[in-house]
Amino acid sequence: MANFLKRRNFIKTSAFLGSLLGFPAIAHSKSTIEEKIDSAHLSLSKGGKSVIGLKVAPIPQVRVAFIGVGNRGSGHVKLVHACGSKAKIVAICDVQERYTKRSKDWLEAKGVTDVKFYSGSLDVWKEMCRRDDIDLVIISTPWEDHVPMAVYAMQQGKHVAVEVPAAYTVEDCWKLVNTAEKTQRNCLMMENVCYGDEELWLLNMAHQGVFGTLTYAECGYVHDLRELLFSKTEYYNMWRIRHNMERDGNLYPTHGLGPVAQYMDIDRGDRFNHLVSMSSLEASLSEDSNSMTDETNEFHGKTGFKHGDMNNTLIKTVKGRTILLQHDVVTARPYSRINMLAGTKAFHKGYPSQFTMKGKNSHSFMKKDEYDALREKYKHPIWAKMKEEIERNGGHGGMDFVMIYRLIDCFNRGEALDMDVYDAASWSVVTPLSELSIKGGNKPVKFPDFTGGKWQESRTLGMLQM
Ligand SMILES: NC(=O)c1ccc[n+]([C@@H]2O[C@H](COP(=O)([O-])OP(=O)(O)OC[C@H]3O[C@@H](n4cnc5c(N)ncnc54)[C@H](O)[C@@H]3O)[C@@H](O)[C@H]2O)c1
Repeated sequence: MANFLKRRNFIKTSAFLGSLLGFPAIAHSKSTIEEKIDSAHLSLSKGGKSVIGLKVAPIPQVRVAFIGVGNRGSGHVKLVHACGSKAKIVAICDVQERYTKRSKDWLEAKGVTDVKFYSGSLDVWKEMCRRDDIDLVIISTPWEDHVPMAVYAMQQGKHVAVEVPAAYTVEDCWKLVNTAEKTQRNCLMMENVCYGDEELWLLNMAHQGVFGTLTYAECGYVHDLRELLFSKTEYYNMWRIRHNMERDGNLYPTHGLGPVAQYMDIDRGDRFNHLVSMSSLEASLSEDSNSMTDETNEFHGKTGFKHGDMNNTLIKTVKGRTILLQHDVVTARPYSRINMLAGTKAFHKGYPSQFTMKGKNSHSFMKKDEYDALREKYKHPIWAKMKEEIERNGGHGGMDFVMIYRLIDCFNRGEALDMDVYDAASWSVVTPLSELSIKGGNKPVKFPDFTGGKWQESRTLGMLQM
């Protein structure tokens, strides 16, 4: 720490001397970035009691409130309702009344008429969070609102489930961790992909040794979102494209990375150590905005989007594993999260799912009948046991229902949740660290240890104990 402070003084002095010589901006901003890269991993822990394995008394019927019922949150309302008597929807808030009304109409059609609705101002969600009849607040708002809403809800004694990514600055990741520890409340990031049939099958195999020693993975979020990004009505106040305008890095890391982190026992025996990030040039959004005909769209003719079309981030774990993580939401190509996993005994790649293992012909993937047999053998029990409910309720092929069901069911039974605030922070912090790496000329940036050293203790994921 002493060296770090000395360095900061040196930087301040250099910036001052630089300003006398007439090149203040460059000297100052360069040294500020180097300083941020050097300090990104430092602990901002407030030293609270760890919430690893946090259990609260069983809640036979979980009382749920929602902030944000746009595209994503309105789906969560339906899935919580699908949990029947295991949960009760108490209150719903959205700044746009047309959306609270949409959920109200849907619920009333199902015979649910005792829900309280909040709308009309940007901070009316606080009033809702102060109610004393809520156990869990589900947050599905634009990225910039996640942390203030999650922190406030926990401070009001509520458990929180927040959409992805949970946070996008290093400081905000620490805020979530520190608040969860101080209040001893759950803060779960709703990484639905961790509950996918294919992902849970791989998780089962990885943990039963089918892959041998895990060595590397490739994953990502490749989804052509251009139409949605430029739409004036799809996202509230066009929040998502503003991030592409302002920031370059991996803006949406957790759909690809969450499952891989679970295969690799991240924060449960291994840890993300450092990353290096590099983006391609930006071209697609600028070209598309130039050919846009709607002159009333504020992005009409806009150029200078900071986010490169493809972001590649390479992560190294403490145990030496590597993960290539991609982010591309602007190229005309099919959707993929890649979902590639390699070990000393087996290899999988997704889109489409293909598998091979030692002892087979490793120059080609397994034939369908062999693959199907393996898929059946290692199928996660929840996907076998709840097949009908999953098919009926769906949500990204069923993974959304499994996630919501598990969340509610763990509260019902007083069990620790499958994911904790450390997962939320370690997976989300990739965004600000990748931004720093890029600003620093693709420099390596070290990860903070949000667990305060507890990552070294191996512990089994709830999903593997069923
Ligand atoms: N896990 C997934 O598969 C998945 C899929 C889509 C979106 N998401 C995530 O869900 C979140 C929301 O995305 P979306 O697509 O639903 O966006 P959206 O714009 O459709 O919905 C956001 C909602 O938040 C409301 N809102 C904004 N500010 C508010 C405030 N101060 N108080 C109350 N309500 C407010 C808006 O009115 C809107 O209805 C994002 O974090 C996104 O990354 C996750």
